[in-house]
Amino acid sequence: MKLSEKEKLMISGEMGEGTRQAMSIVVKFGELYNAERLISVKNAHIDAGAFSTIWDSGLDFVENLVANGAKVAVPTTINPCSCDEGNKLLPKQSKEFVYKAIRLKKAFISLGVCPTWTCAPYECTSSVSFGEVVSWSESNAVNYLNSVLGARSNRLPDLVDVCCAVTGRIPEFGLVLEENRAGQLLFDLQGFGPEYFRDYSDYAVIGYLVGEISTNRIPVIKGFPLETTKNQLKTFSAATASSGSVALFHAVGLTPEATTVERAFQGRREYETFVITPKEFAETKKRLNTGNVNEFDSGIVILGCPHLSFAEVCEVHALMKGRKVAAGKLFWIQTSKTVYRLLEDTCKLNELKDAGIIFMCDTCVLELDPDTQWPFGIVATNSGKLAQYLPGMCNSKIILCSTAECVKLIVEG
Ligand code: F3S
Repeated sequence: MKLSEKEKLMISGEMGEGTRQAMSIVVKFGELYNAERLISVKNAHIDAGAFSTIWDSGLDFVENLVANGAKVAVPTTINPCSCDEGNKLLPKQSKEFVYKAIRLKKAFISLGVCPTWTCAPYECTSSVSFGEVVSWSESNAVNYLNSVLGARSNRLPDLVDVCCAVTGRIPEFGLVLEENRAGQLLFDLQGFGPEYFRDYSDYAVIGYLVGEISTNRIPVIKGFPLETTKNQLKTFSAATASSGSVALFHAVGLTPEATTVERAFQGRREYETFVITPKEFAETKKRLNTGNVNEFDSGIVILGCPHLSFAEVCEVHALMKGRKVAAGKLFWIQTSKTVYRLLEDTCKLNELKDAGIIFMCDTCVLELDPDTQWPFGIVATNSGKLAQYLPGMCNSKIILCSTAECVKLIVEG
């Protein structure tokens, strides 16, 4: 691999042992993908914020970088961690797990990371431009970045993402190159009336199906309404990146590299086409809905996978209309402290808390200690990503429905 003079200094140890270690890993990673050079980036997002993701060896790795003087070279945000310190309303985790989760948080702060602890970095401090190459990980964030923002990153593995942030470099391969960003298969949505695509959950269902069929290819979706919002694309993005490993999609007329179908395929004419009608939509939704609303008497609603934006929490606030969570039920909202503080400033936080909603900040149900005793067997959500992971990780049954239906389920006794 060709290295610049500065990169040679990094790998020689001239810029410190921590930087040397990080650079040697970035170079090895690039060699695995036959990258010929590294690209300098101005922005990074790290996935490895949760102890439940990288465990003891990952904690040792990050603490070792810190001990060897490493610091991130560029503004860097980070994914949720594994605890919401001081929040007594959440299930209890083991002391040892929390101790290590906090050690990991401290190590990342020592590394110079901005403690955003959110999987929706595009909602808070990160600003990237169209076509810019950055160093991001976290499946939904990378997919959103590539597709909706039109910036560029590969899905970096945990800890390699840390090394990229420390060096400010990523290897040049995959989705950072224009020629690798052309669509590879077309999904043509046909027969959907105006009653569809009003709520996030419809995007979750279509996203789940598109991700499942696409696996790691680049889907082009034709037929989403032009009024589709960025938050709805966020839900779609998270679903395709979890039922498949989609890291870039093109939504015709909505995402910046898909002004037309031709542009999305970069002029290529040979591709597979899948027609999706309300029939396939209904079959997929039925497959995901393993729970029954009649069993929801002691169920839980979880919203915020990915973390809810301020606007999304305000939608919930409007839907609650002063009503309260019914006895025996739970309502969790997962978001960042940044959004939480905005809610505090607008007085909506107290109203939502008084209604019985519990906020889970800087973390999420899937990043907590997997040995946690979950107080639920049935979960209602509008998130395709939760519908994908919760049954396997928490043994839950799922009701995948609109935000309004989630609220209805939770307020009715
Ligand atoms: Fe975020 Fe946790 Fe979902 S990290 S995308 S809320 S699984």
